Amino acid sequence: MNYTLQTEKLLNTHSDCICLPLFINNKSDSNKANSQVLCSLGQQIDEACENMLSKAIESYSISSEAGKAFMLSVDGQSFSRILLVGFGEAEKADSEVLKKAIGALNTQIKDTNIKSLCIAFSDIPETLKAENLIRDAITTIAGNHYNFDQFKSKKAPLSPLTEIVFHTTEDQAPSSEAKISLASAQVKGINTAKDLGNLPGNVCTPSYLAEQAQKLADDSKNFSVKILDEAELETLNMGAFLSVSKGSTEPGKLIILEYKGGKKDEAPHMLVGKGITFDSGGISLKPGASMDEMKYDMCGAASVLGTMTAIAELQPKLNIVSIIASAENMPAGNASKPGDIVTSSSGITIEIMNTDAEGRLVLCDALSYAEQYKPASVVDIATLTGACIVALGHCTSAVMGNNDPLVNELLDAGKQASDKAWQLPIWDDYQEQIDSPFADIQNIGGKGAGSITAACFLSRFTKAYPWAHLDIAGTAWVSGGKDKGATGRPVPLLLQYLLNKEAS
Ligand code: BES
Ligand code: MN
Ligand code: ZN
Repeated sequence: MNYTLQTEKLLNTHSDCICLPLFINNKSDSNKANSQVLCSLGQQIDEACENMLSKAIESYSISSEAGKAFMLSVDGQSFSRILLVGFGEAEKADSEVLKKAIGALNTQIKDTNIKSLCIAFSDIPETLKAENLIRDAITTIAGNHYNFDQFKSKKAPLSPLTEIVFHTTEDQAPSSEAKISLASAQVKGINTAKDLGNLPGNVCTPSYLAEQAQKLADDSKNFSVKILDEAELETLNMGAFLSVSKGSTEPGKLIILEYKGGKKDEAPHMLVGKGITFDSGGISLKPGASMDEMKYDMCGAASVLGTMTAIAELQPKLNIVSIIASAENMPAGNASKPGDIVTSSSGITIEIMNTDAEGRLVLCDALSYAEQYKPASVVDIATLTGACIVALGHCTSAVMGNNDPLVNELLDAGKQASDKAWQLPIWDDYQEQIDSPFADIQNIGGKGAGSITAACFLSRFTKAYPWAHLDIAGTAWVSGGKDKGATGRPVPLLLQYLLNKEAS
């Protein structure tokens, strides 16, 4: 897909379809109260087309409600269609309205033969900032065009849409240009994360993730990679990590991907991803129904690789170190058993009460490994708990951490990037749930607050630096149904968070 900017007269646009906003006039004192109104660009086009837009709005009672859109065909112009996209009351339009408007636009162009699209929303209210529009539109439309058909004999037909042009004013052009670069890097990152999440467990193994990290490092400026195998993890005394990987014939890997875009000695920001390429539960075996979906238990790792893919393209002035803790969680004669006690590389001993709480076991050793980088911040990303889906469903990722400013930066980044998260408390009151009668801690809490007790477990290993944890069990994947598959979240949040760090 090609994304370009256009600042010349809208009337001269050569395009299969021009999208224009439609508002409702709510000013009761005006004689046009409750009527649908075009923006100034829309009015220009209306005049040039012998008022066909205003006539159509009236005779077809076209709605300006956010979430509604109406397609009209046009004769005798350099564009053949106009799509009127509802925004409701201009003064009340916010990011939710924008999301609805873009969703409606997306639905209308789906399954059409439109090859080039011109989005002429430069007149939308300042509150919606033209730049936000660009990122949301590109991400939504590209999301709609994503296909995962590499294992299908019959491939999905290619979409005819190949060009999106954004009509902007001269002063909006420079910032819009930057947003196009950001959005297309973000789309690459999301698609990388989706592909990795959708790949089956027999293809996407820890070794496969290591190869992908290696490739990214080979192909990108300022990248280097280190891949630690089980023997090396043994010498590092990573008993918690190894207690998970040992039950599988697929060897576990700790993958370290470094990006140096900042000053030599500047402390890095770190991302740590859970990369369980299949979670059977181990000896605490999961039920059979939907067990196939546990191939997505590496979506934390996928979001890290996706974000780093976008970083490779944008080359921000920052140092970033990513760690992927990757293993397969399987039942086997030599697998860990409930009641086993292992020693993590930090020295903390752990009683494994449930082998299905394996994510925290691989992550804790990775988080201890992070200490040597003296990081400015560490964010781990994990499909850690089913309890997170109970608490927040599928719209919102959970954030917890030991540093409120860091947590707030992640919450803000999520809002900015339309990839929302919400904080759960990890107050000390919860910590006693992971006390063990036999070891320093155990790997599960009691009945309630499963996402919080999982974060409490991680917090025992992250005392040396500002740390936050994102539980993406609900947001990284759509279960069952026709949209089943990886979402690419939280790549937008992570990318925005890192770019905000560059700007600060
Ligand atoms: N990978 C799962 C969490 C998960 C569940 C992610 C469903 C996505 C959808 C994790 O390893 C796990 O099994 N957690 C257990 C923890 C429990 C044993 C304390 C869970 O959530 O049931
Ligand atoms: Mn598990
Ligand atoms: Zn898991």
